[in-house]
Order: sequence, then C-alpha cells, then structure tokens
Amino acid sequence: MPFLSLLSILLVGFLSMSQLVISEVLNDQATLLAIGVEFKIIEWNSNSSDYCKWPGISCSSNNSSVEKLDLSKHGLQGNITIISELKTLKFLDLSFNNFHGIIPPVFGNLSDLEFLDLSFNNFGGPIPVEFAKLKNLRALNLSNNLLNGVIPDELGSLKKLQDLQMFANRLNGSIPHSVANLTNLRVFTAYENELSGVIPDKLGSLSKIQLLNLHTNRLEGSIPDSIFAMEKLETLVLTQNRMSGYIPKSIGICRGLSNIRIGNNNLIGGIPREIGNISGLTYFEANNNNLSGEIVMEFSKCTNLTLLNLASNGFTGTIPFEFGLLTNLQELIVSDNSLFGEIPLSILRGKNLNKLDLSNNRFNGTIPGSICNSSRLQFLLLGQNSIRGGIPHEIGNCTKLLELQLGSNYLTGNIPPEIGHIKNLQIALNLSSNHLHGQLPEELGRLDKLVSLDVSNNQLSGSIPSALKGMLSLIEVNFSNNRFSGPIPSFIPFQKSLNSSFLGNKGLCGEPLSVSCGDFDDSARDAYHHKVSYRIVLAVIGSGLAVFASVSVVVLLFMMRERQERAAREAGKCDDEISSNPVILAGNVFVENLRQAIDFEVVAKATMKDSNKLTIGTFSTVYKAEMPSGMVLSVRKLKSMDKTILNHQSKMIREVEKLSKLCHDNLMRPIGFVLFEDVVLLLHQHFLNGTLAQFLHDHSKKEDYKPDWPARLAIAIGVAEGLTFLHHLAIIHLDISSGNVVLDSNLNPLVGEVEISKLLDPSRGTASISAVAGSFGYIPPEYAYTMQVTAPGNVYSYGVVLLEILTTRLPVDEAFGEGIDLVKWVHTAPTRGETPEQILDSRLSTVSFSWRKEMLAALKVALLCTDSTPAKRPKMKKVVEMLREITQD
Ligand SMILES: *[C@@H]1O[C@H](CO)[C@@H](O)[C@H](O)[C@H]1NC(C)=O
Ligand SMILES: *[C@@H]1O[C@H](CO)[C@@H](O)[C@H](O)[C@H]1NC(C)=O
Ligand SMILES: *[C@@H]1O[C@H](CO)[C@@H](O)[C@H](O)[C@H]1NC(C)=O
Ligand SMILES: *[C@@H]1O[C@H](CO)[C@@H](O)[C@H](O)[C@H]1NC(C)=O
Ligand SMILES: *[C@@H]1O[C@H](CO)[C@@H](O)[C@H](O)[C@H]1NC(C)=O
Ligand SMILES: *[C@@H]1O[C@H](CO)[C@@H](O)[C@H](O)[C@H]1NC(C)=O
Ligand SMILES: *[C@@H]1O[C@H](CO)[C@@H](O)[C@H](O)[C@H]1NC(C)=O
Ligand SMILES: *[C@@H]1O[C@H](CO)[C@@H](O)[C@H](O)[C@H]1NC(C)=O
Ligand SMILES: *[C@@H]1O[C@H](CO)[C@@H](O)[C@H](O)[C@H]1NC(C)=O
Repeated sequence: MPFLSLLSILLVGFLSMSQLVISEVLNDQATLLAIGVEFKIIEWNSNSSDYCKWPGISCSSNNSSVEKLDLSKHGLQGNITIISELKTLKFLDLSFNNFHGIIPPVFGNLSDLEFLDLSFNNFGGPIPVEFAKLKNLRALNLSNNLLNGVIPDELGSLKKLQDLQMFANRLNGSIPHSVANLTNLRVFTAYENELSGVIPDKLGSLSKIQLLNLHTNRLEGSIPDSIFAMEKLETLVLTQNRMSGYIPKSIGICRGLSNIRIGNNNLIGGIPREIGNISGLTYFEANNNNLSGEIVMEFSKCTNLTLLNLASNGFTGTIPFEFGLLTNLQELIVSDNSLFGEIPLSILRGKNLNKLDLSNNRFNGTIPGSICNSSRLQFLLLGQNSIRGGIPHEIGNCTKLLELQLGSNYLTGNIPPEIGHIKNLQIALNLSSNHLHGQLPEELGRLDKLVSLDVSNNQLSGSIPSALKGMLSLIEVNFSNNRFSGPIPSFIPFQKSLNSSFLGNKGLCGEPLSVSCGDFDDSARDAYHHKVSYRIVLAVIGSGLAVFASVSVVVLLFMMRERQERAAREAGKCDDEISSNPVILAGNVFVENLRQAIDFEVVAKATMKDSNKLTIGTFSTVYKAEMPSGMVLSVRKLKSMDKTILNHQSKMIREVEKLSKLCHDNLMRPIGFVLFEDVVLLLHQHFLNGTLAQFLHDHSKKEDYKPDWPARLAIAIGVAEGLTFLHHLAIIHLDISSGNVVLDSNLNPLVGEVEISKLLDPSRGTASISAVAGSFGYIPPEYAYTMQVTAPGNVYSYGVVLLEILTTRLPVDEAFGEGIDLVKWVHTAPTRGETPEQILDSRLSTVSFSWRKEMLAALKVALLCTDSTPAKRPKMKKVVEMLREITQD
C-alpha cells in the first residue's frame, strides 16, 4: 500500500502540475486568440496550432508561456486590457499603433515585465501608479501619446529601470524627487511636456545616466550643481525652459559631456572657465539667455567643438585668439551681443569653418585680406557692426560663400570687382548702409544665382550697369539712396521691383520710377521677358535647393544628437541587434493586408542601389523595391531639403497617415512610410504602366503605337478630377507634371507627389524660396515674382500637361526655339501662321473628324489654363466640366 500511495501521490502531484502547465498554456492560447480577435490580427488565425510561432510572439524555452509580444507598427487599435492576462510576459512592444484610451492599471500586475514600449500611440489619461509594481522593468517608453497628469512619485521604486522615456505628452507637475532613486537610469527624456518646478537637486546620484533631455517644458530654478556629478552624462538638453541663475562651475566635472544645449532660458552670469575641462565637447548652444562677461578662452581646449552658439546674450570683449585652435569648428554664432575688436583672423584659418555670424555686435576692425584663405566659408555674416576700411579684393577668394552680409558698417572705398568671382553667392549680397562710393562693378552681373542684392544707403554713383542683367536669379534689389544716374536697365527683376528700391538717386530714370528717360527702349524688354523668366525660376529653384543644402550642417548636428540619443536608447533595448543594416527609426504600413508582405529594411536597402532608380523628380527620387514576399513597391525617397521634416517626425507621420486616408480614384495614396537615418521614404503601389510622361513620350513613339484619343481624354479628365479634389480640401500641389502622374493597369491616372505638398507646406513658414516649386516647363510665370504657390498656378501646370497630351510634345524642347517652351509655342502658333491643327498630334487628329473636333475643344481648355494672367484661368472644377462636355456634344 505504501508504494501505491506514493505512486498515487506522485501521480496526483504530476497531474496537478501538468494541469497547471496545461491550464496556463491553454490560458495563453485563449488569451492570444482573444487578442487576435480584438486587434483583428489576421495572421494569427490559427495558421499553425503552435502559437509560439505566430508572428510577434516568443515563448519561454522550457514551457509554452508567452514571454514576448511585439505588435509594434501595425496600425492596431482596440482594448489592450486583455494583454494583462499573459502573466509571464517579459517584453511588450505596442509602439507605433493607433491605441487610445487610458493605459490599463492592471498592466502593473505583469510582474515579470522587463521591457514596455507604448510610445507613438494616442493613449490619454495618467501614467498608472501601478507601474511601480513592475519591479523587473528595465525600459519604459510612453513617448508621443496624449498622457496628462503628473509623473508618479512611485516610479522611483523601479530600481532596475535603465531607460525612461516620456517625451511629447501633456505631462505636468514637477519631476519627482524619487527619480533620483533610479540609480540604474541611463536615458531619461521628458521633453515637450508641460513640466514645471525645479530640476531635483538629487539627480546627481544618477551615476549611470548618459542622456538627459528635458527641453521645451516650463522648468524653472537653476541648473542644479549636482547634475554634473552624473559622471557618464553625454547629452544634456534643457533648451526652451525657464531656467534661471548661473551655469554651475561644476560643469567642468562632467568630462564626458559632448552636447550641452541650454538655449532659450533665462540664465545669467558668465560661462565658467571650467568648460575647458570638458574635452569632448562638440556642441554648445546657449543662445537667447542673459549670459554676460567675456567669451572664455577655455573653449579653445575643447578641440572637438563643432558648433558654438552664444547668440542673443550680453557678452562683451573680443573673441579669444586661442579659438584658432578649434580646428573642428563649423559654426561660430555670436550675433546680438556687445563684442568688439577685430574679426577673429585665427578662426578664419579653420579649414572646417562654414558659418561665421558676428552680426549685430560692435566689431570695429577691418576685413582682413586673408578672410577666405580657408575656403569653406559659406556664411559670412558681419552686418550691424562698426567695421571700418575697405572691402578687400581678396573677397573674391571666398568662392564657397552663399551669403555675404556686410550691411550697416563703416565700410569705405569701392566695391571690388572680384565680388563677381563668388559664383556660389545666392542667398544675399548685402552691402547697404555703409560709405561705399564709386561705380557698381559690371562683374556683379556674373552672380547668376544671387536672389537678393542690396547696395542701398551708400554713395555709389554712375549708371546701373546693364551687365547686371546677367543676374538671372535676382528677385530682390535695392539701389535706393545712392548717387546713381541714367536709365534703369530694362531687366524684369528691376521693373518688377517697388519704386522704393530706386528712390533717393537724383539721376535715375525709367521704370519702375515715374521719371521718364525719353528715349527709353521698351521693346527690348518685352522680347526679353519670357526668355529669362523660366531661367529665373529654374535658377531660383536651384538656389532654393542650395539654401537647404547649406542648412544641412545644422541638420547634421541635429542628427548627430538624435543618433546619440538613439544609440543610448538602443543600448537599453536590444543588445542582440547589432548589424550594418540601416537603422529603421520608424515605419508603418497603413494597409492591413500588406503589412506582412513589406519589410522595412529591404525597402531601405533598395533605395541605396542606383539600379533600382525609376525616376528623379524635383523633390524626390523614386526607386523600385522588391520585397522577399514577391511584392514590388514604388518607394519615393524625399530629398531632405527641409529640416522641418526631420525635426517634426511625429507631425510628419500623422500627416502621411492622414493622406493615406484621402480617398479618390485619381490620387496616389501612400501605403506606408519608413524613416531611417535622415531619410524619409514614402511607399506606394508599383504600377507597371509607368508615368503619363512615359506613356506619352516613350510608349507612343513606338512603331506599333495605336492612336488612342479617348484614352488620352479620359486621362486628362482623371488628372483634372484628382486636382479638383485636392483643391476642394485646400491642398495646393507643389509639382504637377506628367512625370508625377502614374497610370494603373486600366490607364486610370493617379496624381502623385501629393505628400510633398503637405510635408513642405509653405504656409508653415518654411523659407519662402521653398514655396517656389515645380518642374521646369510646368511652372507658371508668376511664381518667379510672387514666390507663392497657388491654385491658379496649379491650373497652369495642369494646362501644360493637357498640352502634352494633345501635342505629344515635351514641355520644354529645343526644337521650339530659344527661350520658347511648349506653352509659348502653342500660344504663338497663330503669329507663325500655323493653324491649331498643326499643333495637335496628327496621328490622333487625322484619325476621324470627331476626334479632331474633340481635340480642338480640349486645346481651347488648355489655352485657357495656360493664360499668363492667373485670374483668367478657370478653376479646376470648371476644367473638369468643360472636358466632360467635349464628349457629350
Ligand atoms: C514557464 O517558465 C517560466 C520561466 O521560464 C516561468 O516563469 C513560468 O512560471 C513557467 N510556467 C509554468 C506554467 O510553469
Ligand atoms: C501560414 O503558414 C504558412 C507556412 O507555414 C506560411 O507560408 C504563411 O505565410 C502563413 N500564413 C499566415 C497568414 O501567416
Ligand atoms: C526554465 O528555463 C529558465 C531559463 O530560461 C530556467 O531559469 C528555469 O529554471 C527553467 N525552469 C524549469 C522548471 O525548468
Ligand atoms: C477593456 O476590457 C476590460 C476587460 O477586459 C474592461 O473591463 C474594460 O472596461 C474595457 N475597456 C474599454 C474602454 O472598453
Ligand atoms: C492585480 O494584483 C493585485 C495585487 O497586487 C490584485 O489584488 C488584483 O486582483 C490583480 N488584478 C488582476 C486583474 O489580476
Ligand atoms: C527614494 O529613496 C528615498 C531614500 O533614499 C526613500 O525615502 C524614498 O521612499 C524612495 N522613493 C521611492 C519612490 O522609492
Ligand atoms: C574627439 O572626437 C573624436 C572622433 O569622434 C574622438 O575619437 C575623440 O575621442 C574626441 N576627443 C575627445 C577629447 O573626446
Ligand atoms: C574698438 O572698440 C573698443 C571698445 O570700444 C576700443 O577699446 C578700441 O579702441 C576700438 N578699436 C578701434 C581700432 O577703434
Ligand atoms: C586671393 O585673391 C587675390 C586678389 O584677388 C589673388 O591675387 C590671389 O591669387 C587669391 N588667392 C587665392 C588662393 O585664390
């Protein structure tokens, strides 16, 4: 009997144990099935009975309890409470979905949890205090939600926490003192919230922290001394708060710091000399404070210093000669202070110096002849100082300059003709409000990329040289208050200027002044008009791009920082994923049934190969990307010329998601996006029929081409309908061209590149130049002057597309003659004695009388659309109506 009882005990024991196991297992399976139903995860529809193999799930190795659930980037929504039934969960990633509602407090019962990422959702309500029970938690990310309330004091008990991120929410209250108890913390970000109060002094006990980012809150009080006791700190960002008091001397203790950004606060006092002990400092930004005293020479010990921005403070004294040791310095920005003395020659020797901004100080030296012996300077901003002497001839050595600001100084002498050697000069040449005299050198006319020229308020004399007509990109000019005489050269940018640009010159005559010159030659100007206007626009676009290229240094610096933050984040997350693969920052596929088929890394890699390139446009390059699943995507890689895109990632993501919901048969919707490094990729379906441009200009050249007027008219109507829909939503397209219209397998046209219009929204106040947009040949003439993208401008570009459809001609073609584009060629046909029929593609117009009649009717619409007066062009909606009527007659 004892044997039997032992056996029965064993048996009962075994049974109950296995029952336990089985019940847990069954529980997890049931829970997962319920989760699958709740979130509509079709891949989990019991494809395999072993749920441990379902996508996004990992189980423990010795039993089948679920340990890891990764549902990030799936556009999911639903009630996440049920996930708390997976009691053995260690890793839970729900980031980048559409979850909303409060974060269930019952998640606090997941006591095994080590990694919890709920970032980039729409969770609202408070951070549950129950999280304090997650004693094993190492990483908690709640960023980019709508959370409000305070950061619970109780979180201070999470002794194992290494990574705590909660940026971009609506959290208020102060940073709890208990954060100082998180002694294992490596990353703490809470930027872009509404946090107030002081930064707890005890944070110094966080001896492992590498990244502390609290920018854009309402924090006040002084920077605690102890912060710099964090001996591992690399990045400290407190920008845009209400911090006051002095920068603590203890800053020098923290030798590992590489980024310090404390701009836009109310800090006072000087910069401690101890700054020189931070040998690895690369980025120091303290602009817009009330700092004072001298700029300490100790900065020169920070040999890695790349950017120093001390603008808009109360600094006095001179720039230390020792700054010449800063050979890595790319930007020195000290504008709006009270600095004086010579322009720091030693710094100008730095081979990496890209931007020197000394504007609005009291610099009272001269411009040295050796100013550009280091030739990489792109921005030389010396305006509003007391600089004396002449402009040296050697200024012509500054060949890389994009912007030269010398206005409001005491400069004397002539304008050296060598200024014309600065062929890259494009943003501005400002010599205004000095004591310059003599004539304007003809060589200025060689600055064909320059957009803004200001020589006002000097004593310049002689005539305005007609050689200045070579300045093809010119938009703004100011010659006022000088001693110029003679006729104003007939050059559109001059005549389009306000007359105030020429006032104050006794001897000047001609347009735009009301003083007539008598024998002023008008006809020459008119002949010139069209010829230059396109070139101007092209040049403006070119210079616009260059402007953006030039901010790239700043962007790079931003990205350096982001990358460091990311590296720090990654360190806390997954130690096993080190590879040379592109680091995907974010990505999403909006179409549910395509999600499994798209691999972000493969997408990113496809854009690194030139052989995948399909087309190159004004704002983007399109690549073909073949997925392992066999699916082929068309991937649009944005030219990252607008740093606002990079700096407002979450906003951009929302914008793209919104566009993915724009439902119209004639608009190409993004099906997803991928962000990696500094690159924005937009994913679209790939259509084998290619673009309208290819259809018109490649396909129809083929031997076996079958004339297809009805198909072409249907395409024209489709494009017009797509644009009508956009205009109805007040979206103005930035780049309408046949190359941006894709044809699906039924030749239904889809207008593409709509995203650009939202992402580079000019109304957001990005540089006005970026507003001038489009492809050569499609740009309405008024854009060159108004610098504004408009609905009538869109109608013009559409008219060019319609002309292309009717004539099978390219929008610009040398065959039209010099300076003549398709629009002008069509509009001037009568003066050449050509009939409208001779304009149309004869392969179509001669097929039947009814085709020819319809084509002539469409030509009338195209002529209306391309009227040079914007107000005379029809609305897109009217265009659709007119085109529809054509077939009904
Ligand atoms: C399965 O194993 C994990 C550890 O690997 C443990 O935490 C869990 O309790 C186990 N489940 C059962 C039912 O034994
Ligand atoms: C189902 O399993 C098969 C083979 O294991 C796999 O090829 C297929 O993609 C799976 N389907 C889903 C929806 O996961
Ligand atoms: C389950 O595996 C873990 C390691 O994954 C181990 O620590 C634990 O002891 C195992 N439990 C049993 C019951 O085998
Ligand atoms: C979510 O589900 C839980 C039960 O699983 C329920 O108590 C809760 O009310 C639900 N929340 C919402 C917002 O429906
Ligand atoms: C969560 O844990 C607490 C004890 O810590 C317990 O009282 C409560 O019932 C648990 N909630 C759930 C839903 O399991
Ligand atoms: C933080 O630590 C202090 C003592 O060092 C202790 O009094 C306090 O309760 C702790 N706070 C939390 C939330 O653990
Ligand atoms: C300066 O930067 C280089 C390259 O990033 C690095 O190797 C070096 O350690 C840095 N110097 C200091 C003093 O930190
Ligand atoms: C420049 O200004 C400083 C401070 O006002 C003055 O001491 C110095 O003499 C001036 N230098 C020249 C060359 O005028
Ligand atoms: C700098 O400019 C001077 C005067 O224009 C010229 O003689 C000299 O060759 C230039 N130096 C370089 C390096 O271009």
